[in-house]
Amino acid sequence: MALDVIIVRWLLLVAAVASVLVAPARAGAGAGLAIGFYNETCPNAEELVLEEMRAIVHKDRSLGPALLRLLFHDCFVRGCDGSIMLKSKSLKGERDAIPMSISLRGFNEVERIKAKLEDACPLTVSCADIIIMAARDAVYLTNGPRFPVETGRRDGKVSSCADAENDLAPPGANIVDLKTYFSFKSLSWKDLVVLSGSHTIGTAQCAAFAADRLYNNSGKGVQDPTLDKKYAPDLRALCEPGNLKDETPADMDPGSSYEFDLSYYRNVYSNKGIFVSDQALLDDRWTHDYVERMATAESPDEFFADYAAAMINMGRMEVLTGDNGEIRKICGAYVD
Ligand code: HEM
Repeated sequence: MALDVIIVRWLLLVAAVASVLVAPARAGAGAGLAIGFYNETCPNAEELVLEEMRAIVHKDRSLGPALLRLLFHDCFVRGCDGSIMLKSKSLKGERDAIPMSISLRGFNEVERIKAKLEDACPLTVSCADIIIMAARDAVYLTNGPRFPVETGRRDGKVSSCADAENDLAPPGANIVDLKTYFSFKSLSWKDLVVLSGSHTIGTAQCAAFAADRLYNNSGKGVQDPTLDKKYAPDLRALCEPGNLKDETPADMDPGSSYEFDLSYYRNVYSNKGIFVSDQALLDDRWTHDYVERMATAESPDEFFADYAAAMINMGRMEVLTGDNGEIRKICGAYVD
């Protein structure tokens, strides 16, 4: 990449992140977080996470997207507090909720990174911060932007299956529901359309979309009329009709599923988004315009800068800082 492109991209990212950092905080959102929180207490923390992430995705590249998704699920349920990692013997924890227990992955990898950090700086870096640093690095390691994230979160001690089932938008959600789920968490329509761009990497199990999109749209036994007619047969060839537990993985962004780029928006704009929730971004004036602009953009710079800012916003969600919560040695401790 040419030096001038790198410099422009970096300046845009810095400006985007700075605009979030100087914006008036929403009711204390993110108070206590800082970029470089561990500079003195664990100076190599961010490098150690990146080093482990390189080794993790080198062994299995599908773990990068998995760790990015883990952040979304951690933050939306009781805030970005690492509680997604907690285990429950009575199966009443976040991890036991339907969307998590079926296909959420990356737990062992967070534990692996945590073990490295415990060797370097015992009881210093929270699981919650490890999750956001790993997610940020997953984006970078798929040729996406590298941007700063705030740290200083502490780990929550409560994990609730019911909260997890209530707080995460399902893949069949329409635009009104999606905006509601996000606004409950103080995130905007822009955060919604930008963070949905995460679906430029990774896979989805047929079970997550085949009924809605291919075989039983709105319970009528038909294909989703909004799905591109030439693309649908590719998905039908992968997913068995009537198998609601079909774990077959489908690339969400065929052809560049491990490349963090603009093609998610090109897909959505041409009715090839995999979920109803992706397609739904075309049903609102603002999100539609954003999808259109990114689908036709020549450079990913605006998306990358917006993504860095939206990740800061999501990362501030209901965080525990200061004396709240704890720093756990084992992220996946049992709560009962
Ligand atoms: C807007 C609402 C969203 C819905 C309804 C949604 C839903 C889903 C579903 C159903 C899957 C497939 C899981 C599977 O079958 O394995 C998935 C995958 C994924 N999601 Fe989302 N998601 C949303 C937002 C987000 C956000 C905000 C992020 C990250 C910041 C994200 C990151 C990912 C990633 C990276 C994957 C691929 C995971 C893998 O390959 O293992 N999603 N999402």
